[in-house]
Amino acid sequence: MKLDRRDFFAQLGGAAVVATLTHEARADALEHYMMAAASPPKAASQGSPASAPASMPASMAADKRPFPSAAEVEAQIETQPRRRGVGNLFTSAEGNVKRLPPMPAKPTLVDYFNLRFVRTSNHCLQSANRAMKNGMSEEIILACLLHDTVQELIKVDHGYWGAQMYEPYVSPKVTFALRYHQALRFFEDKEHGYEYPDLYRRMFGFDYTPEPYIVQAWQTAKKNKWYYESRMVTVNDLYAFEPNVHPTLDQFTDIIGRHFKQPKEGLGYDNSPTAHMWRSISMPDHPL
Ligand SMILES: [Fe+2]
Ligand SMILES: [Fe+2]
Repeated sequence: MKLDRRDFFAQLGGAAVVATLTHEARADALEHYMMAAASPPKAASQGSPASAPASMPASMAADKRPFPSAAEVEAQIETQPRRRGVGNLFTSAEGNVKRLPPMPAKPTLVDYFNLRFVRTSNHCLQSANRAMKNGMSEEIILACLLHDTVQELIKVDHGYWGAQMYEPYVSPKVTFALRYHQALRFFEDKEHGYEYPDLYRRMFGFDYTPEPYIVQAWQTAKKNKWYYESRMVTVNDLYAFEPNVHPTLDQFTDIIGRHFKQPKEGLGYDNSPTAHMWRSISMPDHPL
């Protein structure tokens, strides 16, 4: 995918505004932009999407401007009406939020994909599609399919939230892959084909260091028997977009059927420890 740098800057309010953005704010904005560009028109029209850039745009790679300081990172917080970790369903990048279509009485994972995972589904489908093409196991493909969907509910620490939300319905291996993909993105593993992307050096800053709990999570994951599964989510995540490929959920229906324990009462109504998280995605307009 190619990035139209002028359009990207224009959407953010111009180069002067971009220059004031923090490392993470720029990365976040770029990810949103690339996701919107990668999404089908229907999804793109409903607001800004969730995460993960496509291939590194040459124009960004050639960008020689210095990155903001840590103090500017702090200053950036108070220039926005929303916090950056807010879930996609709870905010709109442009104008007001839209009324959501009703959910069935006993919603399935597929219903959530079709009706609520609007901003994350294309990215996750692309990642799962990539994993499938790369001959990954069905559990890795499922992990790729689910890996960022919880960002509809909340973005901050999404690996942990996502693992928790899916825990009652998938294997511990899939849960592990979901939880640790968040930390592993920041650490290269050339042996498995994951290099720390230059884009992140530019977007997060040359002096960016992940927080200690992320470093600790990486070290924990490295020693685990399911490290490979989690690492493969990152390998099939960033830069996994293919511009004219829009995979559909149909190609993953069998894998969902074999590896996702769909509750007969519907997701949100089965009294599982995470049913409330599903209901919050289903009914984000409830005021309390
Ligand atoms: Fe992610
Ligand atoms: Fe992702």
